[in-house]
Amino acid sequence: HKHAHAPEGGFSFEGAFGKYDNRQLQRGLQVYKEVCAACHSLRLVSFRDLAALGYSEGQVKTIAAGFQVPSINPETGEPATRDGIPSDRFPSPYANDVAARAANNNAIPPDLSLMAKARANGSAYIYSLLTGYQDQPAELLKKFPEAKTPEGLHYNPYFHTLNLAMAPPLSDGQVTYTDGTAATKANYAADVAAFLTWTAEPKMQVRKSWGLGTLIFLLIFSFLAYGAKKQIWRNVK
Ligand code: HEM
Repeated sequence: HKHAHAPEGGFSFEGAFGKYDNRQLQRGLQVYKEVCAACHSLRLVSFRDLAALGYSEGQVKTIAAGFQVPSINPETGEPATRDGIPSDRFPSPYANDVAARAANNNAIPPDLSLMAKARANGSAYIYSLLTGYQDQPAELLKKFPEAKTPEGLHYNPYFHTLNLAMAPPLSDGQVTYTDGTAATKANYAADVAAFLTWTAEPKMQVRKSWGLGTLIFLLIFSFLAYGAKKQIWRNVK
């Protein structure tokens, strides 16, 4: 299968000085909510974590209330759902794995909390997978007719087995952005890949700044140690 590639211009969070772009993360959340959440959960992320993207307490409450989370009807004891609250996690839309498989050609949509870490070069992989759907190459089919994509699966050169149960989820114009960003499939894919990188590693910026601080400390310490050595041994030939 093909190697993943980042969007044109790369991600803002790449490199030793890379930082998340909160506006991009907010657009990515919007894509997740309006598209991916129909099938995928984020069971390690709670709604209140979204405060880190710049949302107020009220906004977090509104986002949480837009999700239905599993609950129990207090009168009957039967399973039920209720509106989400900030301490809830992003729920799965399915009652259980059987229901998830039934809706997805026998595949379970995986939880996406750590997907950006679970796959090699994960941010780029998510972007590439979402933008990489295509028709099966004709030469390939001619050479290997038995490799034809099975009914109900979809060909994607970035997926490890080349065929997956997820239909192309994104298309141009599907999500309405309010910050002037063009409503293209490539932008949706980049934004949701950035958002899913944040869910997988929310403390990335702190980690990078500690790394940099450590290097600066070690550099200063090296000069100090060298100076001390010179001082201590100055009378010895
Ligand atoms: C698998 C992302 C929307 C159903 C996956 C994978 C990712 C992903 C990263 C894992 C691929 C791997 O294992 O390497 C997304 C994103 C979406 C989205 C970011 C929104 C933009 C959807 C929707 C559905 C869906 C709307 C259902 C209609 C599935 C299923 C799989 C899957 C069934 C398992 C595929 C297989 O293993 O064959 N998705 N997805 N996804 N997704 Fe989605």
